[in-house]
Amino acid sequence: MQLAFIGTGYVGLVSGTCFAESGNRVTCIDIDAEKVKRLRDGIIPIYEPGLTELVLSNVQAERLQFTTDLASGIDKAELIFIAVGTPQGDDGAADLTALWSVVDGIRKTAQEPKIVVVKSTVPVGTNSKLQARINDGSKFPHEAASNPEFLKEGYAVEDFMKPDRVVVGVRSKLAEQRLKKVHEPFLRTNHPFLVMSPESAEMTKYVANCMLATKISFINEMANLCERMNADINDVRIGIGHDSRIGFQFLFPGVGYGGSCFPKDIRAMIALAKQHGVSPRLLESVDDVNEDQKSRLFEKIKEMAGPELAGKTVALWGLSFKPRTDDIREAPSLVLIRQLLDAGAHVRVHDPKSLHNVKQIFGDQITYCDRAYGTVEGADILAIVTEWQEFRNPDFEIIRRLMNGSIVVDGRNLYDPASMAGLGFHYASIGRATVGPA
Ligand SMILES: NC(=O)c1ccc[n+]([C@@H]2O[C@H](COP(=O)([O-])OP(=O)(O)OC[C@H]3O[C@@H](n4cnc5c(N)ncnc54)[C@H](O)[C@@H]3O)[C@@H](O)[C@H]2O)c1
Repeated sequence: MQLAFIGTGYVGLVSGTCFAESGNRVTCIDIDAEKVKRLRDGIIPIYEPGLTELVLSNVQAERLQFTTDLASGIDKAELIFIAVGTPQGDDGAADLTALWSVVDGIRKTAQEPKIVVVKSTVPVGTNSKLQARINDGSKFPHEAASNPEFLKEGYAVEDFMKPDRVVVGVRSKLAEQRLKKVHEPFLRTNHPFLVMSPESAEMTKYVANCMLATKISFINEMANLCERMNADINDVRIGIGHDSRIGFQFLFPGVGYGGSCFPKDIRAMIALAKQHGVSPRLLESVDDVNEDQKSRLFEKIKEMAGPELAGKTVALWGLSFKPRTDDIREAPSLVLIRQLLDAGAHVRVHDPKSLHNVKQIFGDQITYCDRAYGTVEGADILAIVTEWQEFRNPDFEIIRRLMNGSIVVDGRNLYDPASMAGLGFHYASIGRATVGPA
């Protein structure tokens, strides 16, 4: 099939490439000319495991191409997917400026009836508005459909190739059939293709993210309480997880969720609820708990090192909002860095993939280190912010020798408190007792 993707970011580039991999001819369109040029030169603008190889091989096979030209990009497309950003607006609701500009562009340039599929996460009711807007004064009858994306950054290719489910919201059999046909290669293991109204599809995406964010804020609140109760959240987590109604997934305490989706989607859902006269009490609490949780590491650092941090050196391991991505949007690390700088501390940071993104925000205010061990040289405090695999089992003898101090503050509970005490560290984590050298 001929497909067009408008918006070549995390979602558009991954899904467009995966559809090309299954034999479709895909044109990815973006207004960012620099990004398109780099893609044409074989430079992939984001880090996502497995993506570079797939993009390069599909470009070489002439199934995947990149352009800034909307008219030629959508010309032959049997399905046009929109995957532009829908960031948080000033009032908390999703900002749909990019989406409407794309929709108006399609209406003006399309030379035949089109099926326009929204992959971006958009407020419930947007698809119906799109259906009206794209046909307002148009020469052809176009159709709007919804196909929310559930991929996780860090596992985006894998998730797209083997989705738990595909959800589509459609108005016609033709749209359903075309969407089913392009997704069939990825659903061979009987994972479902779920057909519903566009409103239900739009709602499904937000409800999924709200549920996941709720789980994270729930376990973080319980972890904070465990610290006061002399209980260990890790034991508690396992204790509840064996209840099949609860399970183990997504119940790891930490420093709060970040990323390009959860924070903005929860706030968009809060705004949507308020617009429709529903009081989103639970979701507001989920957001509040998360904002507070982003400060937990800073609080723990002050508890352990004393309130005066001026002149102290703090090393951070992990900056991206989660491992296996270079995405730092709404990352808890950014909050911690700001708090440390405001307190007059020196900040040294390491991340396997996102240093270049963090540099764009903090410039020369902090020190960037290519290697994890180099980061801790002369540091009074080491803070673990993102649980990259390479931080799970480091050589603590080396760390102890290189550090100036002995405080380790672990926002991801990667290490065993008793072992850390045995190694001579003052060690704090989330929802577990803080320990000192044995
Ligand atoms: N990132 C994720 O993990 C994820 C997962 C599921 C859903 N989503 C949703 O998918 C959507 C896209 O997210 P993303 O993370 O890929 O965003 P992104 O910021 O990485 O990419 C968006 C792209 O759209 C381009 N763009 C903006 N306006 C344009 C226009 N008028 N014409 C053409 N291109 C334009 C930008 O230049 C950018 O390359 C959002 O609604 C997001 O909520 C994201």
